[in-house]
Amino acid sequence: MTTLNNKNVTVVNHPLCEHNLSVIRDKNINSDGFKNSMKRLATILVLEATRNLPLKEFTVQTPITTCKTNKISDEYKIIFAPILRAGLAISDVASEIIPDASIQHVGMYRDEQTLEPVWYYDKTPVKYNDPEHIKVFILDPMLATGNSAHAAVSLFLKKGILIENLVFISILSAPNGIELLTKDFPYLKIITAKIDEALNSRGYIVPGLGDAGDRLFNTFEK
Ligand code: URA
Repeated sequence: MTTLNNKNVTVVNHPLCEHNLSVIRDKNINSDGFKNSMKRLATILVLEATRNLPLKEFTVQTPITTCKTNKISDEYKIIFAPILRAGLAISDVASEIIPDASIQHVGMYRDEQTLEPVWYYDKTPVKYNDPEHIKVFILDPMLATGNSAHAAVSLFLKKGILIENLVFISILSAPNGIELLTKDFPYLKIITAKIDEALNSRGYIVPGLGDAGDRLFNTFEK
């Protein structure tokens, strides 16, 4: 499948991803264990997704001497856009790592019949000033059908964000979601910890981990 080999799709290969994925897949893990492993995975993925942020050199006075050092350049505004509600698991971690980033929530739920996203919240501004100098990281732990992801990417493109400045971060992905995004947005960077086997008829990732939102917020009926 060529789209899965798209060079803009990164499956982060790390023993700690494997370890924490095995924790969150387990239906018997408690909510605390689930959240902690989600946070650990989110940390690894956010670090990978921000690997190429531009730096700016400046001089700092240490207690000993002065030296040249680097900070994240302010040439770009950084936005984390969690897709509610499960995306909050990633944005909580992302805003710890980059506290000055803007968190712009987008809310969609999935129509259970059609599996199409239904918008209910959009905290993006009507218009961005200077959208070419904005980097947007869209956050959703589960890239399943790809329909919500597609709607979120389309929203930011419509507002003038450049595709090369957009990154989609998911913890677990299905081939369907990856294919939809890479077909329509071949230059979109996707960072994920694993591409699972398939989707079931209800749009859940298989083997997956169930409903990420329910498991994060303990609204899961066992
Ligand atoms: N959303 C989830 O939370 N889980 C899935 O398996 C698919 C979409």
